[in-house]
Amino acid sequence: MNQNTVNEIRSKIDIVELISEYVPLTKKGQYYWGICPFHNDKNPSMSVDEKRQTYTCWSCHNSGNVFNFVEQIENISFKEALKKLGDKVGIQLDGYSSTINTKYNKYYEIYDITSKYYQLMLNTDKGEKAKEYLKNRGIDNETIKEFGIGLALNDKDKLVKYLKEKKYDINTLNDLGLANNDIDTFINRIIFPLDDRSGRVVGFSGRIYDNSKMSKYMNTKETPIFRKGTCLYHYNSSKEYVRESKYVIVMEGFMDVIRASTIGVKNTIALMGTALTDEQISLIKKLSLNVYLCLDGDKPGQDADLHNGELLEKAGLNVKVVCLSDDEDPDSYILKYGEGKFKSLVMGAVNFSDFKINSLKTNVNFESDIELAKYVNNVIKEVSELKDEIRCEIILKKLANETNLSYNTLEKKLNEYKSLDEEGKKKSLDNLLKKKDAKKDKYIKASEEFIYYMLFNPKVIKVYDSKKLYFIDSNYRNLAAEISYYYHEYGDINIADFYTYLNDKKELLDVFNQIQALNMDEEISDVTIMEYVKVISDYSMRQEIKRLEEMMRKEPDELEKIKILEKIRKLRIGE
Ligand code: UTP
Ligand code: MN
Repeated sequence: MNQNTVNEIRSKIDIVELISEYVPLTKKGQYYWGICPFHNDKNPSMSVDEKRQTYTCWSCHNSGNVFNFVEQIENISFKEALKKLGDKVGIQLDGYSSTINTKYNKYYEIYDITSKYYQLMLNTDKGEKAKEYLKNRGIDNETIKEFGIGLALNDKDKLVKYLKEKKYDINTLNDLGLANNDIDTFINRIIFPLDDRSGRVVGFSGRIYDNSKMSKYMNTKETPIFRKGTCLYHYNSSKEYVRESKYVIVMEGFMDVIRASTIGVKNTIALMGTALTDEQISLIKKLSLNVYLCLDGDKPGQDADLHNGELLEKAGLNVKVVCLSDDEDPDSYILKYGEGKFKSLVMGAVNFSDFKINSLKTNVNFESDIELAKYVNNVIKEVSELKDEIRCEIILKKLANETNLSYNTLEKKLNEYKSLDEEGKKKSLDNLLKKKDAKKDKYIKASEEFIYYMLFNPKVIKVYDSKKLYFIDSNYRNLAAEISYYYHEYGDINIADFYTYLNDKKELLDVFNQIQALNMDEEISDVTIMEYVKVISDYSMRQEIKRLEEMMRKEPDELEKIKILEKIRKLRIGE
């Protein structure tokens, strides 16, 4: 990629001005400060450094240059951020964008053409029956257009022929899941295009619309550009609405999302009927920290609410649950009870912890001592994890009434749980502290500070080069090597541009983030540098010897053993 153009765009945009467009900033001392938009920030934790042209959140550790900021706040790719900021300062990137991802550009192109083709087919004579079906489900033309709904005709190779005419190779169509040995994958189905996080069509789901015995929905197979586990229906289109409402509603199927859209509820995404994956969770987190689960009202839906809610809470999201009445999904609920009822149900979404406690009650036989005791214990256990004391008391009072137990008994039990909890936490903390070994701490500190000074002081890069300093950790080692390389290539180190340089090296970017945030002086004495060098080399050498000794122990071949021994000897005498 053309690093110079990228750096030119970056240098023409002032980070303080840019971030001010999203977050109010106030100057205090050397930095500008604002509420960090990337976590649930209460105090201004994000500093913007005008001199370095970078931002750092001291609470959630998000940091970067103008591109990183725009990428995340707009939830767009690096390429899109580049284009956006390029447009702002009048630098066109025509050549640039086509150099990235060329391999997949053709795939996106084919999907785009296919999607348009299906949409066209729905509007032909042969699409009348499908149109009728959609109409009967209350999906009007506007909605059809909004969601790009189309039709695969009842013909075995219509699409294949069409794309072949356009000179696309059949092998590519097979790879993309659009065909199987010259036969269309989707036949006689209503087609719903599936978009990726930047809104490009990357797959399809096809629904039967007559009395066919085939499975209800059929989805594109996994391809290089489509994985079900990372797909969230309506993700890209929901962004602007989520930003406005400040929460996202998660539904189970895409008909739910489409139906909600017809009543103006568009801050929605759908899981496509799968269990929530880690990738989906981090995508949701980028949309909003506030999630309303609005899954089906039946037993599996409720179980999914519990399971998914737990996962989302663990990931640091605020979760609420919209409880639909029995056996309804958002689609059928809206059709049955109307817009107003659905909207007030959403407004009345309950906190996940309340939902969890409530759900403990299902199917408990209050006549059975054993079941009742188990229920009471479960509720108290949940309550012991709540921070709000008033809420704890309210729940316990309710529980006391409901079970005819005395409040005191319940409170005593709660305190038992709490002290158990504390002990557990203390124990794991003790273990953690024990594990941390002092020598390693010293090595980490020396490494990070040494690399920090490499970034700001060329003198330290010279020491690194001349000593051929070796870090036992590959992340430190690689980052130091990149800094030295960058310095020799570009003549100096611009921190903001260095962020862009590391863009594709995710693990190094994390270490770099952490190190640049040390925020120490930029001057350093020769004595201190040499102290760092000693700590780093000693520790790395000792670890390397340990590794070799272990290798030797496992080595069956005597000759190889001797070779390793020789290596250890050389390391010991510092060769
Ligand atoms: P549902 O069966 O709840 O679908 O499955 P739905 O949204 O209510 O669809 P309609 O109302 O019958 O048209 C939820 C999701 O599970 C996936 C789909 O993504 C669907 O949106 N699914 C379902 C499949 O992938 N294959 C199937 O056969 C069924
Ligand atoms: Mn449904």
